Order: sequence, then C-alpha cells, then structure tokens
Amino acid sequence: MADFDHWAEIYSAWTAMAQDDPAEIEFYQRLAGAADGPVADLGIGVGRLAAKLDPQVGVDVSEAMLAEARTRLGPGIRLIRADLAACELPEPAALQYCGQNTLNHLSRRSVPEALRCAFRNARPGGRLAFEVVQPRPERQKARDGVPRLRVWDEGRAIYEITRMLDKQGLEAELVGLVERLDGDRRVVERGYFPPIRFCFLTMAEVADWAEAAGWQVEGAYAGFTGRPLAPESSTAVWCLRRPPR
Ligand SMILES: C[S@@+](CC[C@H](N)C(=O)[O-])C[C@H]1O[C@@H](n2cnc3c(N)ncnc32)[C@H](O)[C@@H]1O
Repeated sequence: MADFDHWAEIYSAWTAMAQDDPAEIEFYQRLAGAADGPVADLGIGVGRLAAKLDPQVGVDVSEAMLAEARTRLGPGIRLIRADLAACELPEPAALQYCGQNTLNHLSRRSVPEALRCAFRNARPGGRLAFEVVQPRPERQKARDGVPRLRVWDEGRAIYEITRMLDKQGLEAELVGLVERLDGDRRVVERGYFPPIRFCFLTMAEVADWAEAAGWQVEGAYAGFTGRPLAPESSTAVWCLRRPPR
C-alpha cells in the first residue's frame, strides 16, 4: 500500500474545501492550449488539475488516489498506476505537468530519476511543468510540529502537522490528524494518518538535475504570476522543454 493511499479520503476533502488558485490553473491551461499532442498529468492525485485541463493520461502511485480520480473524471482518461521515477507513457507527450508539490513527495534520489523518465516520455519540443516547495529553514522551524487546520466540516476536523527531520530544512514528514466530532462539535475520536515524506528542493538541485536529464529551462518562476525565481522563494514553478529535434 502506498503512503498516499491513507490520505486519499482527506486529500479529497481538503481539495473540495480549498479555493483553486486561478493563476495556477491559467498557467497550466496556457501550456495545455499550446500542446500539439498528448497531455499527461504526473501524480494526478484525486484529479484536481485534470478536472480543469482534460489530459489524456494520468499517472499516480496510489491506487486509492486513482480510484478517486476515476470517480471524478469519468472513463475518458487513461489512468496508469506507476512510480514517476519509472513510468512509461503510452505515447510521447507534448506536455507533462506535475502539480502541487508532487515531486517534493519523492525521495531526493528519485527526483532526478523522475526528471529523466519524463524526458524519455516527452516528444521532441515537449514540455514538463511543475511546482515545488523550496527549503526555508526558519519558516519551517516556526511550523515544526504545529498542527494546521486543513478541513473543518460538520463531522470532522483535519489537521496537517509538519515535522522537520533535519536542521537544514531539507527533509520533513507530514502527519495527518483527524478528529471526529459529534453534533455539538465535541471530539469523540482522534486518529493519525501515517506520515508521508516531504523533501524540500533547492533551485540549484532542480536546475542541475533538469540539465543532466537533457531538459532546457524555458522558465523558472516564484509562483504562478511570473516573478523571477530566487533561492529564497518559497514556491518554484518550472517549465522545462525537451529540445526540438
Ligand atoms: C500532493 S498530491 C498532488 C496531487 C495533484 N498533482 C494535484 O495537484 O492536486 C501528490 C500526489 O502524488 C502522488 N505520488 C507521490 N509519490 C509518487 C510517486 N513516486 N510516483 C507517482 N505518484 C506519486 C501521490 O499519490 C499523490 O496523489
């Protein structure tokens, strides 16, 4: 069972509650609109982005996430259960995108493998776009072990707790805490979801790994509004391109 299988239920709940960032959707929609061939969602999760972008293929390692995605997206999309570090797409993609920190959930050793794998799955001229979280040790220290409320509905409260695993702020684990509530919103049961890994990725690491895999960097931004990326930015949005033949 993949770690994320345990999280599918709560991930669906907080995806349903969270507001989509219009700049994120527009960024990926623009790339999907420019794609002259198949589009693949890498780490599709419950289909949050796919519901807006309509890719032909979705990949995820978690059976439970794929089941949620199937329910949400219907039969029109091909869903593949595979690890992003070793997956083969049915045909070369014009665009692969990997939304919302998915690459941060791979081990640091697997990220370069995933970039190489996506390169092999890309058409000449094809793109890979993704968002990752960069290390910011001071901020992470302030949040270390502090529960953050992510879902609050009639029957439950769901918190995410980040625990730092090193001083440099490169490795962390996320723990889910679910409280079941009665009609008066008193806690009647409490449970923890098993931890999932989170490895913060620096700008230099991503640039080196992308280049070693054969990608050209088309754009690197601090978030989805196009500000230039810096080592201290919290979110990095990358757009890579396989050189045209
Ligand atoms: C944070 S969720 C993001 C889901 C989706 N990309 C989105 O933007 O909503 C990360 C997803 O990546 C998947 N995942 C984590 N590690 C993976 C791996 N090594 N290979 C394939 N999928 C993976 C998880 O199962 C989960 O569905």
